[in-house]
Amino acid sequence: MSDSRPSVEVPFAYPGGENEVLAEEISAAINGVIASGHYILGPEVASFEKALASYSNAYASVGVASGTDALVLALLAAGIGPGMEVITASFTAGPTVAAINMIGAVPVLVDIEEATFGIDPEAVETAVSDKTRAIIAVHLYGHPAALGQLRAIAHHHGLTLIEDCAQAIGARHELGPVGSIGDFGCFSFYPTKNLGAIGDGGAVCVAGLDTLTKVRALRAYGWLRKPQYADLTDGRCSRLDELQAAILTVKFRHLESWTEARRTAAARYKAGLEDLPVLLPYELPNCRHVYHVYVIRTDRREALQGYLSNRGIRTALHYPYPVHQQPGLAYSARIASSMEKTERLTGEILSLPMFSTISDRQTSQVIEAIRSFFKNG
Ligand SMILES: Cc1ncc(COP(=O)(O)O)c(C=O)c1O
Repeated sequence: MSDSRPSVEVPFAYPGGENEVLAEEISAAINGVIASGHYILGPEVASFEKALASYSNAYASVGVASGTDALVLALLAAGIGPGMEVITASFTAGPTVAAINMIGAVPVLVDIEEATFGIDPEAVETAVSDKTRAIIAVHLYGHPAALGQLRAIAHHHGLTLIEDCAQAIGARHELGPVGSIGDFGCFSFYPTKNLGAIGDGGAVCVAGLDTLTKVRALRAYGWLRKPQYADLTDGRCSRLDELQAAILTVKFRHLESWTEARRTAAARYKAGLEDLPVLLPYELPNCRHVYHVYVIRTDRREALQGYLSNRGIRTALHYPYPVHQQPGLAYSARIASSMEKTERLTGEILSLPMFSTISDRQTSQVIEAIRSFFKNG
């Protein structure tokens, strides 16, 4: 997308852009829900769930209140409970680990692979103990984790494989779309995500009828079948609501073109920055990166971030601290590998502006500023 406006601030993310473009359609969808009189678990949620399952090549999907709840419900549906161990990466968003804590299980934290920022399968293998019940693979930044190796480890040890797809809707591994390879695929529709609601939302993709029934029950008080109250399990109240589902259905139709827009912006960054002393995101052959965030690496991160900020270019850190260094999250965690890569990369990462409506002019402004930073020493 090109425009001829003068240089202005470049935001880090701009979820409002998509909603502005689709304002009429979104308003019509909202009005449709109001007129229907059906506000909870009605036709909009059912049709969005179908669309997500078909897009993700999953057996079915269940709309829930957030990405965090998607992880919690997947863990509960897998039978994970207090004292059981769940292996995941320390280099992730806090909610991945908070979800494990919320059900009283023990997070077992390991290092990542340098190229993709995904959990390191070798570290996972050595972290397995007789208490391990699940692995959460996070497709961080929008690139799939090493799903082939992780699935083999999970099968070998009889573990549940949960994919944290919060940042990766539309990403593909050579084995298939994310969310379809593990036993559960957990999605977030937080407004800045590649498919964002106008509020909170999430979904769990499941691989079969048994887990579909469990997650459906868990999201609504534990009702297992009609008539309601007949069959109670220990449930939550975590539903995607009709309004958000109707909005997501409108936006879903544009996800592929928005993903291509992100990939085009990523290609522009690559062409403009690849001769500089920075490391750029890597896309494994046979994988599709969806660039939820575009993360570069430099040992001059603080100086570069300050330089860009002075020029109106907003950047961010994903994340400033790994989980094993956050006492509020890692209080019961077992640290099960060296964290050499996690700690080194945490000091080098910088997330550049990235959103589906970013213009060529904005990416050029970012590229020129980074080039001038390195040119001027
Ligand atoms: C990797 C990852 N997992 C889980 C979540 C939680 O999603 P939500 O904010 O919808 O609860 C997020 C969102 O920030 C995330 O980035």
